[in-house]
Amino acid sequence: MTSLQSDLTTTFTLGGDLPVNRLGYGAMHLTGPGFWGPAADPDEAVKVLRYAVDHGVNFIDTADSYGPGFNEQIIRQALHPYPEDLVISTKGGMLRSGPDDWVRGKGEPYIVALGRPEYLRQQVELSLRNLGVERIELYQLHRIDPTVPLADQLGELLRLKEQGKIHHIGLSGQPEVTVEQLEQVGQIADIVAVENLYNVADQSGDEALLYAENAGLAFIPWFPLGHGDLTGPASPLTELAKQFGATPAQLALAWLMHRSPNILLIPGTSSLAHLKANLAAADLDLDDDALAAISETATRATTWRPSVT
Ligand SMILES: NC(=O)c1ccc[n+]([C@@H]2O[C@H](COP(=O)([O-])OP(=O)(O)OC[C@H]3O[C@@H](n4cnc5c(N)ncnc54)[C@H](OP(=O)(O)O)[C@@H]3O)[C@@H](O)[C@H]2O)c1
Repeated sequence: MTSLQSDLTTTFTLGGDLPVNRLGYGAMHLTGPGFWGPAADPDEAVKVLRYAVDHGVNFIDTADSYGPGFNEQIIRQALHPYPEDLVISTKGGMLRSGPDDWVRGKGEPYIVALGRPEYLRQQVELSLRNLGVERIELYQLHRIDPTVPLADQLGELLRLKEQGKIHHIGLSGQPEVTVEQLEQVGQIADIVAVENLYNVADQSGDEALLYAENAGLAFIPWFPLGHGDLTGPASPLTELAKQFGATPAQLALAWLMHRSPNILLIPGTSSLAHLKANLAAADLDLDDDALAAISETATRATTWRPSVT
């Protein structure tokens, strides 16, 4: 049997110098309806963040566009002054214009990216202020802007790094940063992480995961619980979970944790009860047959693609 507990207490070292526990937390849901405005229940949001950090989570994912701004602010309100080992990763380079408004385009949806250097600089300055830090430990380009030369987008992040405002750079995609893009980026800048859509029901990003493993990058799957579709009674994993005395969410998280040592998990929740249940995924023991059964069940049943990010 593989002990997930031992995997969770094993850290992944981001960029060679920032060890973090592999079971982290995604803060996006600590916002108002449609990921817009302040947290719907600020007291619960503060409790969730403090509980996570008090129980071993030391990697938190946020973005300037969650709220916008409010998500970083509630993290500061709950956790500042920050524990020394806490790594808060934030992102910039994507526009919002209202609740649930992320997607634009005709037919093939695309996300509104804005990678102009002066905008990225402004957003880094705002994130520094909202989080109350001197330096952002991991700053991710939320989307590569196809209308701005890659060297200009990364060049500005490199300048911010030289100036000590960013420590490490990562990339994030919708649904994914491709291997080709990772190779292009590698010729311009050292990055330490890639954040792509990936979960047990949608393993189409395996190529980028393999690339991340070979290059020593953290792979941070967004929608690890299928944005909720892999949780609760309607989850394709519900029946299987009963056999393990676990919840479907715990199976989905445990599967990801075993999938690759480079995976950092950022399951999102606005509920303390759900957070506690998700952290308890650390106590699940799964062998290879169990992991295969989870994968087969989830991939057979699910064909969704995300409609929001
Ligand atoms: N880089 C990117 O482009 C990108 C895109 C999307 C997301 N992200 C990041 O990835 C993180 C994870 O994505 P996500 O939060 O959207 O999706 P997710 O982690 O796959 O799922 C979160 C959803 O599942 C529900 N949930 C969580 N635990 C549960 C449990 N134990 N039982 C029942 N329901 C549960 C949550 O509702 P409750 O609040 O009710 O628990 C929420 O609706 C985000 O927080 C964000 O930081 C990044």
